[in-house]
Amino acid sequence: MDTGKKINFRSTGVDKTLEVGRRLGRLLIAGDVIALIGELGAGKTTFVKGIAEGVGIKNLHIVKSPTFSLVNIYEGRVPVYHFDAYRLEDTYEMLAIGSDEMIFGEGISIIEWADKVLRCLPEKYMKVTFSIVSENERSIEFGSIGDRYDKTIDCLNCAYK
Ligand SMILES: Nc1ncnc2c1ncn2[C@@H]1O[C@H](COP(=O)(O)OP(=O)(O)O)[C@@H](O)[C@H]1O
Ligand SMILES: [Mg+2]
Repeated sequence: MDTGKKINFRSTGVDKTLEVGRRLGRLLIAGDVIALIGELGAGKTTFVKGIAEGVGIKNLHIVKSPTFSLVNIYEGRVPVYHFDAYRLEDTYEMLAIGSDEMIFGEGISIIEWADKVLRCLPEKYMKVTFSIVSENERSIEFGSIGDRYDKTIDCLNCAYK
């Protein structure tokens, strides 16, 4: 399903990526699922730091890529589950750590390398695709898979103008 809204931002530096992340973080509610796609160094983890701040996580230095732990949990106004599927060969390991309970639970789930574990995602999620444009520039495309995130995308857009 790929029916919802789309919007594209151009980030000109780490601060911009953090800012867009914060804006999204402020809009998120329990049960939301954010799938991050893009090569190494594209800005996914940087973006998660912004989201975490927007969700109200105070201790921001704990927000790091869970490449080896597979998932980090941060306590904000709701729990944030930060996954990284980079090392995974298949979805089994993801399910084995209890991803279903988190992703279909009452927190906010953010998954780096989500394209490797699409089968673990709900029917509706927000897809954020990062592309490297130049050393300091990134293209960030938001898409609402299903329609759950159409309003979120509208809000992101007006907040940015
Ligand atoms: N506009 C930008 N947004 C995000 N990161 C940027 C940007 N420009 C340069 N960078 C650099 O790119 C790297 C992004 O790393 P990271 O967020 O860990 O990416 P990923 O999680 O996708 O591998 C960092 O070294 C950061 O300093
Ligand atoms: Mg990362």
